[in-house]
Amino acid sequence: MTARRRKRVAVLISGRGSNMAALMEAGKRPDCPYEIVAVISNRPDAKGLETAQAASIATAVVDHKAFDSRAAFEEVLHETLLSFGAELVACAGFMRIMTAGFVQRWEGRMLNIHPSLLPLFRGLHTHRRALEAGVRVHGATVHFVTAELDGGPIIIQGAVPVLPDDDEDALAARVLRVEHRIYPAALWQVAAGACRLKGGRAIMNGWPFDEEARLIAPVANIPLS
Ligand code: GAR
Repeated sequence: MTARRRKRVAVLISGRGSNMAALMEAGKRPDCPYEIVAVISNRPDAKGLETAQAASIATAVVDHKAFDSRAAFEEVLHETLLSFGAELVACAGFMRIMTAGFVQRWEGRMLNIHPSLLPLFRGLHTHRRALEAGVRVHGATVHFVTAELDGGPIIIQGAVPVLPDDDEDALAARVLRVEHRIYPAALWQVAAGACRLKGGRAIMNGWPFDEEARLIAPVANIPLS
């Protein structure tokens, strides 16, 4: 039996790249339905570029500062994605707002991770805002990217408790650990064709677990111990 061809994934980053590294790690598994073929940053100094290079993954920089308009930046970004043969795009700490036109070109094929339980706390400073709001549960969300900022259909969420002594850093670290589990899980499902965007929702086709499993990794069969 021939192995199923793995989906080609490009990761978009702007900084540290720890989620990118988690996606790469799962991508090394022989049973993984995706492979990371490129890491693209809008910032030349993004730390994640070094991590990708050390793992022999192709990298590119499309510096938004070099363009007059968002559309011009996105045109080159799109061309760069195509040049790597990307079939799926994973935004991992990619801190650029995208136009509806660009998003449409990758509709159903572009994922993002956001450090809150959406639709709560869209935008920036999510951990500070969670602490200010006094929520007892916080977390992260992987969703399909749509033109609405942090508003796309939810694929997987991971929840963590907010503890009495938490400051922003402690809470961010706890959420980040769950990010590293749910992002590979979500990308795995999309790459395998088990999850897709339909009618404005993320439909879990053949999701081999009960609905509760959508809430939080670890999920059986997914390398997220
Ligand atoms: C992550 O916490 C990610 O959820 C967040 O940026 C961080 C990137 O860290 N993304 C956003 O805030 C997007 N709105 P990483 O570079 O180590 O993956």
